[in-house]
Amino acid sequence: MSRYVSKAIQGMAFFFAACAVPHAWAAPDAVAGKAKAQLCAACHGENGVSSIPDTPHLAAQPPLSIFYQLLQFRDQRRKGGGMEVIATTLTEQDMRDIAAHYATLPAPAPQAGGDAQKIARGQQIAQQQYCSSCHGAQLQGQKHVPRLSGQSHTYFVTQLRNLRSGARADMDGTMASAARSLTDEEIDAMAAYARSLP
Ligand code: HEC
Ligand code: HEC
Repeated sequence: MSRYVSKAIQGMAFFFAACAVPHAWAAPDAVAGKAKAQLCAACHGENGVSSIPDTPHLAAQPPLSIFYQLLQFRDQRRKGGGMEVIATTLTEQDMRDIAAHYATLPAPAPQAGGDAQKIARGQQIAQQQYCSSCHGAQLQGQKHVPRLSGQSHTYFVTQLRNLRSGARADMDGTMASAARSLTDEEIDAMAAYARSLP
């Protein structure tokens, strides 16, 4: 764990330094963000809960996580779902406002109806791998680290495989090292566990 955490801190320091463009912005405005997020509802759902399996829920995501992912898409460092085009139409103020809006919405309902044995196995692996040291005790996310609880199973599995293979480059390399040794079966079990959490 300490290995990940110290790498994470180093990586974050680098990332924040790289982003520290001298630039003034107004405080994030969740009300303005709600209006701006109309563009996003067709895919991410009216309340930030998507009904499309490969499209993430954004409700209750930490605002910094949404903001940094939008920057990654805008700068073409992450691609997928056409987001690399959509993000180029947003200003940084739009991104902060939209992120503030989604952060205020209620989290997606936990889907605990699945295979109880698989969920228990997913919980065990997540504990062994210290996923919560970055993603939070209930995998609810924090700072720039995304929320995983309640997330779509398909989205979780696809993204974690892409982070493992490097097809999705993460902002500081810590998630790629956390994913490197995971098997498909372990990823599937952890997705079931994450989806079951409130
Ligand atoms: C045409 C459908 C579509 C629209 C419209 C759309 N998105 Fe997306 N969005 C996606 C898909 C699909 C992904 C997953 C991309 C991937 O596979 O990497 C995604 C991913 C994201 C992510 C990454 C979330 C995470 O947990 O990493 C954010 C943030 C996001 N979208 C925000 C927005 C915002 C804000 C808007 C509106 C301005 C928007 N999206 C409009 C389909 C869409
Ligand atoms: C050192 C901190 C750290 C650890 C440990 C860690 N993660 Fe992550 N995780 C991150 C960060 C940061 C991101 C965002 C990556 C990016 O795009 O830059 C992320 C992204 C993800 C995503 C994509 C989510 C989304 O919304 O797109 C999944 C799934 C994920 N992590 C699962 C896990 C699992 C499962 C574990 C345990 C095996 C784990 N993580 C351990 C920091 C961590």
